[in-house]
Amino acid sequence: MTLSIDRVSISSQKQKIVDEVSLSVRGGEWYALVGQSGSGKSLLSQAIGQMLPANLQAEGSILFKEQDLLSLSSKQMQKIRGKKLSYIFQDYQGSFTPFRTISQHFDEYMRTHGLSSAKTREEKALDALESVGLDQALYRQYPFQLSGGQLQRVSIAIALLLCPDLVIADEVTTALDSVSGHRILALLAKRQKETGCAILFITHDWRHVRRYANRIAVMKAGKIVESGGKHRILDHPRHEYTKQLIQAAPTLGQGLPLGVKKVEKT
Ligand SMILES: Nc1ncnc2c1ncn2[C@@H]1O[C@H](COP(=O)(O)OP(=O)(O)OP(=O)(O)O)[C@@H](O)[C@H]1O
Ligand SMILES: [Mg+2]
Repeated sequence: MTLSIDRVSISSQKQKIVDEVSLSVRGGEWYALVGQSGSGKSLLSQAIGQMLPANLQAEGSILFKEQDLLSLSSKQMQKIRGKKLSYIFQDYQGSFTPFRTISQHFDEYMRTHGLSSAKTREEKALDALESVGLDQALYRQYPFQLSGGQLQRVSIAIALLLCPDLVIADEVTTALDSVSGHRILALLAKRQKETGCAILFITHDWRHVRRYANRIAVMKAGKIVESGGKHRILDHPRHEYTKQLIQAAPTLGQGLPLGVKKVEKT
């Protein structure tokens, strides 16, 4: 098991927001976490990397590579985050500093994780850009010179650069148009195959769940109401809320939009 979340609750001083959630992500699988807005999906994913807002507390245990992430110091966590466990966010623009080039973003990331040779860092970065279908010329450019799809590709390149065991992808296609979104996920799936990482994939889009997930958990109001294999959940949902969610997904089963067959440039 790559990640075992066991009875994790997240609370503010006033209330419990996530209530005794348990789920396990296996090595190399694509695990989809779906459910109501405000049900606590993002907070749960932030708790994994000790990235919760300061006013919130997590309890329970989050086992990752035989360590309980909730009990690590922030220094210990920094060594894991980015290297063994990485994130891709919906707000990819927020992950970049406007006046630093793409090369500087790659470079800082690799220096933080101990790659001391500048030549190796540059070679690795250029390979990574190529692996996500981007022209190496983008290396010297600034984030604002890239399209949303290109920037999200750079985020994927950086997140998977050091072959983490787990990538947490929180609504990574929401800010993109539908075709770019599908291409980004096809790319993520390709990089997942190449690196063997597991993906914890948070989404509202059931088409993406149908296409990529191995297993699914459904969250409502801070609890997991149902979890299981993709086909069991999609074709034989047991919980009333899961049934409603699936019925309300208008385009489920339609697959990719016209013209999206393989990974292409966005
Ligand atoms: N720092 C905070 N303090 C108190 N409550 C918070 C804080 N951050 C988020 N919340 C609340 O916690 C709940 C869960 O938020 P979260 O962002 O995890 O939901 P979500 O399932 O990711 O929703 P969405 O699908 O819309 O992204 C929400 O009601 C939110 O308002
Ligand atoms: Mg969220």
